[in-house]
Amino acid sequence: MTLLHTPPHTLPADWYGAAPAPIGVDQAFNGYVAATVVHTLDRLGVWDLLAADPRLDIAGFVRSAGPAVRDRVVREVLRAAAVCGWLRLEDGGDTAVLTDAGRETLRMRGYFTWAVGGYSDLFSGAARLATGEATFGETLLRDEAMVALGSGQNDRSFMSTTLDEVLDGIDFHTLADLGSGISARVSRVVGARPGTRGLGLDISGPATELGHRTIAEAGLTDRVRAIRTDVLDVCHREAHRDAIAEVDTVMSFFLLHDLLADPGTRPQLFTRLREAFPAARTFVLADTMLRPDAEGSATLPVFSLGYELAHALMGVPLHTKETYEELFAAAGLHPVRTVPFGTPHSWLYVLEAR
Ligand SMILES: C[S@@+](CC[C@H](N)C(=O)[O-])C[C@H]1O[C@@H](n2cnc3c(N)ncnc32)[C@H](O)[C@@H]1O
Repeated sequence: MTLLHTPPHTLPADWYGAAPAPIGVDQAFNGYVAATVVHTLDRLGVWDLLAADPRLDIAGFVRSAGPAVRDRVVREVLRAAAVCGWLRLEDGGDTAVLTDAGRETLRMRGYFTWAVGGYSDLFSGAARLATGEATFGETLLRDEAMVALGSGQNDRSFMSTTLDEVLDGIDFHTLADLGSGISARVSRVVGARPGTRGLGLDISGPATELGHRTIAEAGLTDRVRAIRTDVLDVCHREAHRDAIAEVDTVMSFFLLHDLLADPGTRPQLFTRLREAFPAARTFVLADTMLRPDAEGSATLPVFSLGYELAHALMGVPLHTKETYEELFAAAGLHPVRTVPFGTPHSWLYVLEAR
């Protein structure tokens, strides 16, 4: 196993990050507020408009957004974004112009959809979780659709090129994506390769609903299906065996840590996965792994702290790269490629079942 480990000096530079630790009070406070501003601009559709045209006519935007939209509130959020340096207000405050820093924030907005949209109730409810007043999954929830949407946004922005390059070397006909979220990835991949078919499996009702919409918008209803199911039921209880019998390639992104949460089933997970997909010879699996030496680091990258804290609060353990590689090996899954996958401490494996 040791040979597969990647020495620390080969990690991409942005995985170490540039945010200083200890974090200053001013940075922590402003970072919190700024994160909510990024997410608000996303929900209002402002980032999408700025991606298409870096100059936004504010009055025109408010008019087109609908009669109930409050001009004053929109302008205050845009003013806060300008204070953050992501926009420049011109024409007496009537035009918002995207800055270079704003372009970078727009590119990475999926992290904020994930954190603010998906996990803000969990983060702000941590004290109630600690005291026993709230229980995750019962009285404290994450917003699954926002988690899936944020992942999908990041995929489009800075992961799709890596995945497409990896998949170029793989001959597949029927693909399953486990924990497919809004089915954006499976739709994109199948859409780009004529004659192929795809299945997106996800436990979340809201994410699967968005998945049906993604598939329809891509014009792929005859080739891609989104199924709401628990992948653990597929692995351990033989759910949906007919639908998945033909699958020759299995992919999964940012779900494995959830599937590995139960220490009782963890050692057999990948063996059960192979049995559930008997025709699959190739597994393309990616996940965000436990950061080495997190407490000792003098800088912080984007995402890692939120990912680690959210999963700790939910009681989902995270695993090192070494643990993943040991579990793959025990199931007879042999890595033929291992590449860094965009988000800090995330690795993508192409594994052959032998
Ligand atoms: C972080 S999101 C990643 C979504 C997508 N793979 C992506 O990379 O954009 C994790 C997804 O796994 C789904 N999920 C979590 N546990 C699951 C399970 N046991 N079975 C199926 N899906 C699950 C969640 O609903 C969510 O959509």
